[in-house]
Amino acid sequence: MATEERLFDAALAYVTDLLAGDCGGHDRFHTLRVFHTALRLAREEGADPLITGLAALLHDADDRKLSPGTSESLSNARRFLAEQGVDRAKTAAVLTAIREVSFRGTDSVVPSTVEGKCVQDADRLDAIGAIGIARAFAYGGAHHRVMHDPAVPPRRDMDAAAYYAHEATTVNHFYEKLLLLKDLMNTETGRRIAAERDRCLRDFLAEFYAEWDGER
Ligand code: ADP
Ligand code: NI
Repeated sequence: MATEERLFDAALAYVTDLLAGDCGGHDRFHTLRVFHTALRLAREEGADPLITGLAALLHDADDRKLSPGTSESLSNARRFLAEQGVDRAKTAAVLTAIREVSFRGTDSVVPSTVEGKCVQDADRLDAIGAIGIARAFAYGGAHHRVMHDPAVPPRRDMDAAAYYAHEATTVNHFYEKLLLLKDLMNTETGRRIAAERDRCLRDFLAEFYAEWDGER
């Protein structure tokens, strides 16, 4: 197995290829932000940096939207770890963290390991705040969704199947996912950062409605 730094470099190069061409908010810069935030959380939580870093770098390699054929098997992440000679225990830990990362409405899980908790918080932090807002509208545009329709109310309490099938307006996505994330953080640092980024979401929505209604 290569050194930690070389493994991280190789994982980033591997996912950069897999994610090339995505403009819905999953790209190598999202991966890099999640990686850096996850490692920061790992230091504060005493999580294993190698497992956290690899899970963060590979967390979208088998994303159900980008690679539906491998989202169950995680075979893209698995192939990378095998090629790099990562041992069985570490491979299992990385795959567990990846499997537990995603938001699935009311079927979302609290990760079973501290490494998974750090990666999930880091991924979710990138969905809120200024970057989260930009990603949401980029995603909405890429999927030809209207940004807002006052006649369409947000849906509450969707399970995984309903959440996946649902075609939200981008403003409704704030209520259906983004504004829920601050209360779903696993780590203390994640909670603190999320509180600030959540305020950014709420300020944005207030301004958005004021302009929509012609009040400003
Ligand atoms: P995760 O990172 O938990 O796997 P997704 O793959 O669902 O999240 O989302 C990737 C990005 O796209 C996030 O920033 C998310 O907020 C955004 N996104 C997902 N679904 C929608 C939607 N219906 N409307 C707008 N943005 C969305
Ligand atoms: Ni992600």
